Amino acid sequence: MTSLLCIIVFSLTLAGSVSSQLTGTPTSYSVKVLADLGANVTLPCRLPKESHSFFTVGIRVKWTKLADDEALNEDVLLSMGFHKKTYGSFEDRVYLQELDSEDASLVITDVSKDDTGTYRCEIINGMLDTVQQIGLEVQSALTDGMVFPYSPPLGRYSFNFDDAVQACLDQDAVIASFEHLFEAWKDGLDWCNAGWLDDGTVQYPITKPRQPCGGANKGPGLRNYGRRDKYMSLFDVFCFIRPLNGSFYWLTQPERLNFDEAVQACFDDGAEIAKVGHIFAAWKLEGYDRCDAGWLADGSVRYPISRPRKNCSPAEAAVRVVGFPDKQEKLYGVYCFRPEP
Ligand SMILES: *[C@@H]1O[C@H](CO)[C@@H](O)[C@H](O)[C@H]1NC(C)=O
Ligand SMILES: *[C@@H]1O[C@H](CO)[C@@H](O)[C@H](O)[C@H]1NC(C)=O
Repeated sequence: MTSLLCIIVFSLTLAGSVSSQLTGTPTSYSVKVLADLGANVTLPCRLPKESHSFFTVGIRVKWTKLADDEALNEDVLLSMGFHKKTYGSFEDRVYLQELDSEDASLVITDVSKDDTGTYRCEIINGMLDTVQQIGLEVQSALTDGMVFPYSPPLGRYSFNFDDAVQACLDQDAVIASFEHLFEAWKDGLDWCNAGWLDDGTVQYPITKPRQPCGGANKGPGLRNYGRRDKYMSLFDVFCFIRPLNGSFYWLTQPERLNFDEAVQACFDDGAEIAKVGHIFAAWKLEGYDRCDAGWLADGSVRYPISRPRKNCSPAEAAVRVVGFPDKQEKLYGVYCFRPEP
Protein backbone atom coordinates (compact mmCIF):
# COMPACT_ATOMS: atom_id res chain seq x y z
CA MET A 1 0.00 0.00 0.00
CA THR A 2 2.85 2.40 0.82
CA SER A 3 4.17 2.04 -2.70
CA LEU A 4 0.95 3.57 -3.97
CA LEU A 5 1.21 6.46 -1.60
CA CYS A 6 4.67 7.51 -2.74
CA ILE A 7 3.43 8.72 -6.09
CA ILE A 8 3.16 12.34 -5.16
CA VAL A 9 0.88 14.62 -7.03
CA PHE A 10 2.21 18.07 -7.84
CA SER A 11 -0.70 20.15 -7.01
CA LEU A 12 -1.27 23.72 -8.01
CA THR A 13 -4.05 24.00 -5.53
CA LEU A 14 -3.59 26.88 -3.14
CA ALA A 15 -3.20 26.03 0.47
CA GLY A 16 -6.05 28.37 1.28
CA SER A 17 -8.58 26.24 -0.53
CA VAL A 18 -7.79 23.06 1.29
CA SER A 19 -11.07 21.62 2.35
CA SER A 20 -11.71 18.67 4.47
CA GLN A 21 -15.30 17.80 5.15
CA LEU A 22 -14.41 15.00 7.49
CA THR A 23 -17.24 14.97 9.93
CA GLY A 24 -17.69 13.61 13.41
CA THR A 25 -19.35 10.33 14.11
CA PRO A 26 -19.03 7.24 11.96
CA THR A 27 -22.78 7.00 11.62
CA SER A 28 -23.32 10.45 10.19
CA TYR A 29 -23.73 10.60 6.45
CA SER A 30 -25.15 12.98 3.93
CA VAL A 31 -26.56 10.44 1.50
CA LYS A 32 -28.41 7.25 2.22
CA VAL A 33 -28.71 4.46 -0.32
CA LEU A 34 -31.25 1.65 -0.13
CA ALA A 35 -30.48 -1.61 -1.89
CA ASP A 36 -32.19 -4.96 -2.24
CA LEU A 37 -30.38 -8.01 -0.98
CA GLY A 38 -28.26 -9.52 -3.76
CA ALA A 39 -28.38 -6.44 -5.98
CA ASN A 40 -25.48 -4.36 -7.27
CA VAL A 41 -25.45 -0.99 -5.56
CA THR A 42 -23.62 2.25 -6.32
CA LEU A 43 -22.47 4.49 -3.48
CA PRO A 44 -22.04 7.93 -5.02
CA CYS A 45 -18.88 9.96 -4.58
CA ARG A 46 -17.59 12.68 -6.86
CA LEU A 47 -14.53 14.77 -7.09
CA PRO A 48 -15.68 18.29 -6.30
CA LYS A 49 -15.64 20.73 -9.22
CA GLU A 50 -13.25 23.21 -7.61
CA SER A 51 -10.59 20.57 -7.22
CA HIS A 52 -10.43 19.84 -10.88
CA SER A 53 -6.87 20.04 -12.07
CA PHE A 54 -4.69 18.75 -14.85
CA PHE A 55 -3.34 16.20 -12.46
CA THR A 56 -6.38 14.03 -11.87
CA VAL A 57 -4.32 11.04 -12.92
CA GLY A 58 -2.64 11.14 -9.53
CA ILE A 59 -5.81 11.19 -7.52
CA ARG A 60 -6.05 8.64 -4.79
CA VAL A 61 -9.45 7.30 -3.78
CA LYS A 62 -9.95 5.40 -0.60
CA TRP A 63 -13.19 3.71 0.47
CA THR A 64 -13.60 2.58 4.06
CA LYS A 65 -16.49 0.99 5.91
CA LEU A 66 -16.84 2.69 9.26
CA ALA A 67 -17.28 1.02 12.61
CA ASP A 68 -18.37 2.61 15.87
CA ASP A 69 -14.81 2.15 17.03
CA GLU A 70 -12.42 3.83 14.56
CA ALA A 71 -9.90 1.01 15.13
CA LEU A 72 -12.35 -1.49 13.63
CA ASN A 73 -12.92 0.40 10.38
CA GLU A 74 -12.64 -1.91 7.37
CA ASP A 75 -10.69 -1.06 4.25
CA VAL A 76 -12.85 -1.56 1.18
CA LEU A 77 -10.94 -0.28 -1.82
CA LEU A 78 -7.92 1.80 -2.60
CA SER A 79 -7.34 3.28 -6.01
CA MET A 80 -4.40 5.17 -7.37
CA GLY A 81 -4.57 5.64 -11.10
CA PHE A 82 -4.50 2.19 -12.60
CA HIS A 83 -3.63 0.55 -9.32
CA LYS A 84 -6.65 -0.82 -7.53
CA LYS A 85 -6.84 -2.97 -4.48
CA THR A 86 -9.84 -4.44 -2.69
CA TYR A 87 -9.79 -5.81 0.82
CA GLY A 88 -11.23 -8.51 3.07
CA SER A 89 -14.86 -9.40 2.50
CA PHE A 90 -14.95 -6.81 -0.32
CA GLU A 91 -12.17 -8.45 -2.31
CA ASP A 92 -13.22 -8.91 -5.97
CA ARG A 93 -16.71 -7.75 -5.10
CA VAL A 94 -16.33 -3.97 -5.42
CA TYR A 95 -15.06 -1.62 -8.10
CA LEU A 96 -14.98 2.08 -8.89
CA GLN A 97 -17.71 3.14 -11.28
CA GLU A 98 -15.50 5.73 -13.06
CA LEU A 99 -18.10 6.90 -15.54
CA ASP A 100 -16.01 10.02 -16.01
CA SER A 101 -12.83 11.48 -14.57
CA GLU A 102 -14.65 12.93 -11.56
CA ASP A 103 -16.53 9.78 -10.65
CA ALA A 104 -15.22 7.94 -7.60
CA SER A 105 -18.47 6.10 -6.88
CA LEU A 106 -18.16 2.61 -5.45
CA VAL A 107 -20.10 -0.32 -6.90
CA ILE A 108 -20.70 -3.21 -4.50
CA THR A 109 -21.95 -6.35 -6.24
CA ASP A 110 -24.22 -8.92 -4.64
CA VAL A 111 -24.85 -6.92 -1.46
CA SER A 112 -25.53 -8.84 1.73
CA LYS A 113 -27.14 -7.82 5.01
CA ASP A 114 -23.64 -7.45 6.46
CA ASP A 115 -22.89 -4.66 3.98
CA THR A 116 -25.35 -2.38 5.76
CA GLY A 117 -23.49 0.51 7.37
CA THR A 118 -21.74 3.80 6.73
CA TYR A 119 -19.03 4.16 4.12
CA ARG A 120 -16.43 6.89 3.79
CA CYS A 121 -15.09 7.99 0.43
CA GLU A 122 -11.84 9.93 0.64
CA ILE A 123 -10.47 11.61 -2.43
CA ILE A 124 -6.93 12.69 -1.89
CA ASN A 125 -5.80 15.03 -4.58
CA GLY A 126 -2.55 16.55 -3.51
CA MET A 127 -3.34 19.16 -0.94
CA LEU A 128 -7.03 18.84 -1.44
CA ASP A 129 -8.85 16.11 0.42
CA THR A 130 -12.52 15.46 0.06
CA VAL A 131 -14.38 13.21 2.40
CA GLN A 132 -17.95 12.07 1.87
CA GLN A 133 -19.93 9.65 3.98
CA ILE A 134 -22.69 7.50 2.55
CA GLY A 135 -25.10 5.27 4.44
CA LEU A 136 -26.11 1.94 2.94
CA GLU A 137 -29.12 -0.04 4.02
CA VAL A 138 -29.65 -3.47 2.52
CA GLN A 139 -33.27 -4.49 2.43
CA SER A 140 -34.71 -7.90 2.02
CA ALA A 141 -38.26 -8.75 1.07
CA LEU A 142 -38.08 -11.04 4.09
CA THR A 143 -36.74 -8.52 6.62
CA ASP A 144 -40.05 -8.75 8.31
CA GLY A 145 -41.51 -12.19 7.76
CA MET A 146 -41.01 -15.72 6.49
CA VAL A 147 -42.19 -18.08 3.76
CA PHE A 148 -43.67 -21.54 4.26
CA PRO A 149 -45.03 -24.15 1.89
CA TYR A 150 -48.59 -25.33 2.43
CA SER A 151 -50.41 -28.38 1.21
CA PRO A 152 -53.88 -29.23 2.39
CA PRO A 153 -55.50 -32.19 4.16
CA LEU A 154 -56.62 -33.54 0.77
CA GLY A 155 -53.01 -34.22 -0.08
CA ARG A 156 -50.49 -32.48 -2.25
CA TYR A 157 -51.41 -30.67 -5.46
CA SER A 158 -55.06 -29.93 -4.81
CA PHE A 159 -55.21 -26.10 -5.01
CA ASN A 160 -56.12 -24.06 -8.02
CA PHE A 161 -54.97 -20.41 -7.77
CA ASP A 162 -58.01 -19.10 -5.86
CA ASP A 163 -57.88 -22.01 -3.41
CA ALA A 164 -54.18 -21.26 -2.89
CA VAL A 165 -54.84 -17.60 -2.07
CA GLN A 166 -57.54 -18.63 0.39
CA ALA A 167 -55.41 -21.37 1.97
CA CYS A 168 -52.77 -18.79 2.97
CA LEU A 169 -55.41 -16.41 4.34
CA ASP A 170 -56.76 -19.32 6.39
CA GLN A 171 -53.30 -19.63 7.97
CA ASP A 172 -53.22 -15.88 8.87
CA ALA A 173 -50.76 -15.41 6.01
CA VAL A 174 -50.83 -14.20 2.39
CA ILE A 175 -49.74 -15.93 -0.79
CA ALA A 176 -46.01 -15.29 -1.28
CA SER A 177 -44.52 -13.18 -4.07
CA PHE A 178 -41.60 -14.22 -6.25
CA GLU A 179 -39.35 -11.89 -4.22
CA HIS A 180 -40.42 -13.60 -1.00
CA LEU A 181 -39.66 -17.05 -2.36
CA PHE A 182 -36.38 -15.90 -3.86
CA GLU A 183 -35.23 -14.46 -0.52
CA ALA A 184 -36.35 -17.60 1.29
CA TRP A 185 -34.36 -19.69 -1.19
CA LYS A 186 -31.27 -17.55 -0.57
CA ASP A 187 -31.90 -18.17 3.11
CA GLY A 188 -31.76 -21.92 2.48
CA LEU A 189 -35.38 -22.97 1.82
CA ASP A 190 -35.45 -26.26 -0.07
CA TRP A 191 -38.83 -27.70 -0.99
CA CYS A 192 -39.52 -30.28 -3.63
CA ASN A 193 -43.23 -29.60 -4.24
CA ALA A 194 -44.31 -26.87 -6.61
CA GLY A 195 -46.49 -24.08 -5.27
CA TRP A 196 -48.45 -21.09 -6.54
CA LEU A 197 -47.06 -17.56 -6.14
CA ASP A 198 -49.09 -14.35 -6.24
CA ASP A 199 -48.13 -13.63 -9.88
CA GLY A 200 -49.84 -16.84 -11.02
CA THR A 201 -46.59 -18.70 -11.59
CA VAL A 202 -45.78 -22.05 -10.06
CA GLN A 203 -42.27 -22.56 -8.67
CA TYR A 204 -40.25 -24.32 -6.01
CA PRO A 205 -36.92 -23.58 -4.30
CA ILE A 206 -34.02 -26.03 -4.45
CA THR A 207 -30.80 -25.46 -2.55
CA LYS A 208 -29.63 -29.10 -2.68
CA PRO A 209 -30.11 -30.24 -6.30
CA ARG A 210 -31.21 -33.87 -6.65
CA GLN A 211 -32.77 -36.10 -9.26
CA PRO A 212 -36.45 -36.07 -8.29
CA CYS A 213 -36.46 -32.28 -7.80
CA GLY A 214 -35.77 -30.91 -11.26
CA GLY A 215 -32.56 -32.84 -11.83
CA ALA A 216 -29.28 -33.41 -10.03
CA ASN A 217 -27.29 -31.70 -12.76
CA LYS A 218 -29.03 -28.36 -12.55
CA GLY A 219 -27.63 -25.85 -10.09
CA PRO A 220 -29.47 -24.62 -7.02
CA GLY A 221 -32.25 -22.17 -7.77
CA LEU A 222 -35.96 -21.65 -8.16
CA ARG A 223 -37.46 -24.28 -10.46
CA ASN A 224 -40.11 -22.48 -12.46
CA TYR A 225 -43.12 -24.11 -14.14
CA GLY A 226 -44.14 -20.68 -15.40
CA ARG A 227 -47.68 -19.32 -15.49
CA ARG A 228 -50.32 -21.99 -15.11
CA ASP A 229 -54.04 -22.09 -15.77
CA LYS A 230 -55.49 -20.52 -12.63
CA TYR A 231 -58.65 -22.63 -12.69
CA MET A 232 -57.52 -26.00 -13.99
CA SER A 233 -53.98 -26.42 -12.66
CA LEU A 234 -53.55 -27.90 -9.21
CA PHE A 235 -50.51 -27.31 -7.01
CA ASP A 236 -49.46 -26.47 -3.45
CA VAL A 237 -48.84 -22.88 -2.38
CA PHE A 238 -46.14 -20.77 -0.76
CA CYS A 239 -47.41 -18.43 1.93
CA PHE A 240 -45.78 -15.39 3.56
CA ILE A 241 -46.38 -14.41 7.17
CA ARG A 242 -45.20 -11.44 9.24
CA PRO A 243 -44.23 -11.58 12.94
CA LEU A 244 -47.12 -12.70 15.13
CA ASN A 245 -49.25 -10.25 17.02
CA GLY A 246 -49.82 -12.63 19.86
CA SER A 247 -48.33 -15.66 21.50
CA PHE A 248 -47.97 -19.16 20.16
CA TYR A 249 -47.64 -21.81 22.84
CA TRP A 250 -47.85 -25.47 23.75
CA LEU A 251 -50.82 -26.07 26.01
CA THR A 252 -49.67 -27.92 29.07
CA GLN A 253 -52.35 -30.38 30.09
CA PRO A 254 -52.31 -33.97 31.36
CA GLU A 255 -54.01 -35.91 28.58
CA ARG A 256 -53.65 -36.69 24.93
CA LEU A 257 -56.47 -35.15 22.95
CA ASN A 258 -58.48 -35.77 19.84
CA PHE A 259 -59.00 -32.84 17.48
CA ASP A 260 -62.27 -31.54 18.94
CA GLU A 261 -60.88 -31.73 22.45
CA ALA A 262 -57.80 -29.83 21.29
CA VAL A 263 -59.92 -27.01 19.86
CA GLN A 264 -61.90 -26.85 23.10
CA ALA A 265 -58.78 -26.95 25.31
CA CYS A 266 -57.31 -23.83 23.68
CA PHE A 267 -60.69 -22.11 23.86
CA ASP A 268 -60.92 -22.94 27.59
CA ASP A 269 -57.46 -21.39 27.98
CA GLY A 270 -58.71 -18.09 26.56
CA ALA A 271 -57.03 -18.69 23.21
CA GLU A 272 -57.64 -20.47 19.90
CA ILE A 273 -56.07 -23.53 18.35
CA ALA A 274 -52.98 -22.33 16.45
CA LYS A 275 -52.83 -22.15 12.67
CA VAL A 276 -50.06 -23.46 10.46
CA GLY A 277 -48.88 -19.89 9.83
CA HIS A 278 -48.49 -19.39 13.58
CA ILE A 279 -46.26 -22.42 14.10
CA PHE A 280 -44.01 -21.41 11.19
CA ALA A 281 -43.74 -17.77 12.28
CA ALA A 282 -43.01 -18.76 15.90
CA TRP A 283 -40.41 -21.29 14.77
CA LYS A 284 -38.59 -19.10 12.25
CA LEU A 285 -38.98 -15.62 13.70
CA GLU A 286 -38.96 -16.45 17.43
CA GLY A 287 -36.84 -19.62 17.49
CA TYR A 288 -39.69 -21.60 19.06
CA ASP A 289 -38.63 -25.19 19.73
CA ARG A 290 -40.70 -28.03 21.13
CA CYS A 291 -40.40 -31.76 20.49
CA ASP A 292 -44.08 -32.54 21.07
CA ALA A 293 -46.54 -33.26 18.30
CA GLY A 294 -49.61 -31.06 18.56
CA TRP A 295 -52.87 -30.49 16.70
CA LEU A 296 -53.27 -27.37 14.57
CA ALA A 297 -56.43 -25.74 13.26
CA ASP A 298 -56.29 -27.32 9.79
CA GLY A 299 -56.31 -30.81 11.36
CA SER A 300 -52.60 -31.37 10.86
CA VAL A 301 -50.23 -32.45 13.61
CA ARG A 302 -46.79 -30.80 13.68
CA TYR A 303 -43.90 -29.85 15.92
CA PRO A 304 -41.35 -27.03 15.57
CA ILE A 305 -37.65 -27.81 15.97
CA SER A 306 -35.15 -24.97 15.85
CA ARG A 307 -32.42 -26.91 17.71
CA PRO A 308 -32.04 -30.23 15.86
CA ARG A 309 -31.30 -33.16 18.18
CA LYS A 310 -31.68 -36.91 18.45
CA ASN A 311 -35.29 -38.01 17.94
CA CYS A 312 -36.31 -34.42 17.14
CA SER A 313 -35.51 -33.68 13.52
CA PRO A 314 -31.82 -34.58 14.02
CA ALA A 315 -30.62 -33.38 10.60
CA GLU A 316 -32.18 -29.95 10.28
CA ALA A 317 -34.18 -27.20 11.92
CA ALA A 318 -37.72 -27.59 10.60
CA VAL A 319 -41.39 -27.62 11.35
CA ARG A 320 -42.03 -31.37 11.21
CA VAL A 321 -45.37 -32.60 9.98
CA VAL A 322 -46.75 -35.84 11.37
CA GLY A 323 -49.62 -35.63 8.91
CA PHE A 324 -53.38 -35.21 8.99
CA PRO A 325 -54.36 -38.03 11.33
CA ASP A 326 -57.87 -39.27 11.98
CA LYS A 327 -59.44 -36.48 14.06
CA GLN A 328 -60.77 -39.02 16.56
CA GLU A 329 -57.30 -40.21 17.52
CA LYS A 330 -56.50 -39.22 21.10
CA LEU A 331 -52.79 -39.23 20.50
CA TYR A 332 -51.52 -35.67 20.54
CA GLY A 333 -51.25 -32.44 22.44
CA VAL A 334 -52.17 -29.03 21.06
CA TYR A 335 -50.57 -25.73 20.13
CA CYS A 336 -52.62 -22.63 20.91
CA PHE A 337 -52.46 -19.00 19.81
CA ARG A 338 -53.55 -16.08 21.92
CA PRO A 339 -53.88 -12.86 19.91
CA GLU A 340 -52.65 -9.67 21.52
CA PRO A 341 -55.57 -7.81 23.03
C1 LIG B 1 -23.76 -7.27 -10.82
O1 LIG B 1 -22.56 -7.01 -11.48
C2 LIG B 1 -21.88 -8.18 -11.89
C3 LIG B 1 -20.50 -7.80 -12.40
O2 LIG B 1 -20.51 -6.53 -12.97
C4 LIG B 1 -22.72 -8.91 -12.94
O3 LIG B 1 -22.07 -10.09 -13.36
C5 LIG B 1 -24.04 -9.27 -12.28
O4 LIG B 1 -24.91 -9.86 -13.24
C6 LIG B 1 -24.72 -8.04 -11.70
N1 LIG B 1 -25.85 -8.48 -10.91
C7 LIG B 1 -27.05 -7.90 -10.98
C8 LIG B 1 -28.10 -8.43 -10.06
O5 LIG B 1 -27.28 -6.97 -11.75
C1 LIG C 1 -49.29 -7.82 12.97
O1 LIG C 1 -49.70 -6.45 12.95
C2 LIG C 1 -49.07 -5.69 11.93
C3 LIG C 1 -49.49 -4.25 12.11
O2 LIG C 1 -50.89 -4.17 12.26
C4 LIG C 1 -49.47 -6.26 10.56
O3 LIG C 1 -48.84 -5.53 9.52
C5 LIG C 1 -49.02 -7.72 10.50
O4 LIG C 1 -49.41 -8.29 9.27
C6 LIG C 1 -49.61 -8.50 11.66
N1 LIG C 1 -49.06 -9.85 11.64
C7 LIG C 1 -49.80 -10.93 11.39
C8 LIG C 1 -49.09 -12.24 11.37
O5 LIG C 1 -50.99 -10.87 11.13
